[in-house]
Amino acid sequence: MQKKLRLAVLASGSGTNLQSIIDQSQSGALDAEIVLVISNNPGSGALERAEQAGIKTLCINHRDFSAREDFDQAVVAALKSAEVELIALAGFMRIISSVFLQAFPQRIINIHPALLPAFPGLNVQKKALDYGARFSGCTVHFVDDGVDTGPIIIQAVVPIHADDTEAALAARILEQEHEIYPQAIQWIAEGRVEVEGRYVRIRAAMHSEQILINPTS
Ligand code: GAR
Repeated sequence: MQKKLRLAVLASGSGTNLQSIIDQSQSGALDAEIVLVISNNPGSGALERAEQAGIKTLCINHRDFSAREDFDQAVVAALKSAEVELIALAGFMRIISSVFLQAFPQRIINIHPALLPAFPGLNVQKKALDYGARFSGCTVHFVDDGVDTGPIIIQAVVPIHADDTEAALAARILEQEHEIYPQAIQWIAEGRVEVEGRYVRIRAAMHSEQILINPTS
């Protein structure tokens, strides 16, 4: 059997993306083992979910550090000692400094609840609604030194409904996040992912031919 990819998940919130990765990993659909879950938030659902699943957890509270780099240094030390090969940010609400990036070049991925490069940053479901966009979605990308600017691995598109609320749109997007994040991790675990500048090449992946129009008459 092929050796499993040693994966760490960093999360600040309820951890539904973490849960989808745990579920896929436990079902054997993922050639990755979550060896560590780190949260900066002591009360996060993510820590609870990881403990429930018997995964090693660590809370590194950013409030205990005066400088971002010191917090990142503590996170990097924990990841190194767990011999982590890939880091998945899953609702991790901290900006990554160069200390963290340089320790794991092209080994950090993130999920973002919008179709990048549209709507980077925070509260992006509301931003998409307020803008009057007809589609939004989610993006898994490598992390670089910008905010949500790294090379894109996979995206899913969801329609925006005329009477949408922020919560309804967020839920529709989240459902797709739970599909595409494990998929991206699996491709990386299989060694099929190569970054060429901004373009991420995925060996033997099928590319969509589908065109979507919204609204229609
Ligand atoms: C997800 O929608 C994720 O895309 C988003 O936070 C949510 C976390 O949900 N991440 C960001 O906005 C990162 N800038 P979860 O804790 O249930 O996985």
